[in-house]
Amino acid sequence: MVATSNSNSWHYDFSLLPQYLDRLFAKLRIAVVFGGDCDRPGSVIYKTHNPRSWKSYEIVAREIAKALTEIGFQHVYVIPDDMNLPEQLKQQKIHLVWLNTGGVQGYNPVCHTPALLEMLGMPYIGHNPLNSSTLDNKHAFKRELQSVGIQTAPFMTWHPSQGILQPNLPERFSIAFGEYRGPFVVKPVSGRASLHVHFVDKIEGLSQAVSEVHQATHNTALIEKYLPGREFCVAVCGYVTYAKGCFTKNAKPFAFSTVERVLESDELIFTSMDKKAITADRGRLMGAEEPELKQQLIDLARKIYWEFSLNSLVRIDVRSDGDGELYVLEANPKPDLKYPGKNVTSLVALGLAEYGMSYNDLIFSLLADRLDYLLTQHIEIIPHIVDLLD
Ligand SMILES: Nc1ncnc2c1ncn2[C@@H]1O[C@H](COP(=O)(O)OP(=O)(O)OP(=O)(O)O)[C@@H](O)[C@H]1O
Ligand SMILES: [Mg+2]
Repeated sequence: MVATSNSNSWHYDFSLLPQYLDRLFAKLRIAVVFGGDCDRPGSVIYKTHNPRSWKSYEIVAREIAKALTEIGFQHVYVIPDDMNLPEQLKQQKIHLVWLNTGGVQGYNPVCHTPALLEMLGMPYIGHNPLNSSTLDNKHAFKRELQSVGIQTAPFMTWHPSQGILQPNLPERFSIAFGEYRGPFVVKPVSGRASLHVHFVDKIEGLSQAVSEVHQATHNTALIEKYLPGREFCVAVCGYVTYAKGCFTKNAKPFAFSTVERVLESDELIFTSMDKKAITADRGRLMGAEEPELKQQLIDLARKIYWEFSLNSLVRIDVRSDGDGELYVLEANPKPDLKYPGKNVTSLVALGLAEYGMSYNDLIFSLLADRLDYLLTQHIEIIPHIVDLLD
C-alpha cells in the first residue's frame, strides 16, 4: 500500500519502482525543456550577452519527449526555458521537468534553469545548479579534478579584466607549465562543439588566441598543454538502468559508450559537430581489442560521477599524451542525446547496443534513476509525485 508523504508508515524500496512507474504513466505530467531564444519577443526582459554559444536543442528535446511517450507516459510537453517557464509549468500542472537546455543568456547560463526550478520546488532530471556551473566552467571543473587526484592537462586562465596576455609572464607560466613552451590549446572555459578552440604552437601565439576567445565570449580563456595523443569519450549516468524489459540497481554508476573519436591525420582538434555531423566513422566504438584501456575509461567515468556526487548523465571527454596517459578534458553536463538515425548519431547513443539497450531504454533509465533517487533520498520534497502513487 502507498501512503502520502507525510505518513510515517510509508516505505520505499527499489522493488516497488516498476509498479510505481506503471501508475505514473497515466498521471505524471512531464515537461522537456529546451533553450529559449532571447530574440523571441517576450522571452526575456532585456537581451544581454551569452558567453556560451547558444543553441536551442529543441530537436533533441522533441526526440526525448517522443521516447517518453513511446515508453508510456501520457502527458509530455515540450517547453522553452525563457521567462514564461514558471507560468507554463504551473498552467500545465507539470510534476517533473527534463532539462535539455544550455540556458537562454547571461553568465553561467547552464545553471539558470535548475536554479529556477529549485526556487519553484520543481523536481528535475538534470544537474543541480552547482554541478551545472562547475561542469560548464572547464577551469572550475579542472581545479576540482586536481583536488581528487584525477589527471587533467596543466592549465592557466586569463580573464578579459586582466588585459592583453603578455607572452612574457615567466612566473605565472612556470606555475602551470614548468619548462614546457608549447604547443598549447586556447579555448573558452564555457564552450561547446569545439567552437573557438585554437591550437597554438608557441608561447608567442597565445596572446592573439586569448584575445580572440575574449572577443567572442567576453569570458575567461583557458590555456592548456596540447595533448597529442588519441581522443576518447565515455558516458556515465546513475545506478538504475532499464534493459531488456527489466530494471536493475547497479552497485556502481552506469558507464557506457566508450568511443574513440577518430581524428584525421591533419586534424589537431576534433572538428565541431556543427560542421561535421557525428557519424559512425567519426566515433569508433571500442570493442574487445583494448580491454584495459576501455576499463580505464569506465573506471575514470565512475570515479568522476562518484566524486562530484552527480545525479544525471554526463559525457566525459578524454585525451592521451604522447605516452598514452589519459587526461580529462571536460565533462559535458548536457551531452547530445540525439536519437540515433541511419547516418547521424550521438556519442552517447553509440554504445547502447552493447548493453542490450535502445535509445528509449536509456531515456527510461535516466527517468527511473532520478525517481528512485528522489524516492530514496528526498521523499519529503516530492509530495506531489508521491500522491500520484496512490
Ligand atoms: N588540451 C588539449 N589537447 C589536445 N586537444 C584538445 C585539448 N583541449 C581541447 N582539445 C581538442 O578540442 C576539442 C574541443 O575541446 P573541449 O572538449 O574541451 O571543448 P568543447 O568545445 O566543449 O567540446 P565539445 O564538442 O565536446 O562540447 C576536443 O575534442 C579536442 O579535440
Ligand atoms: Mg569536448
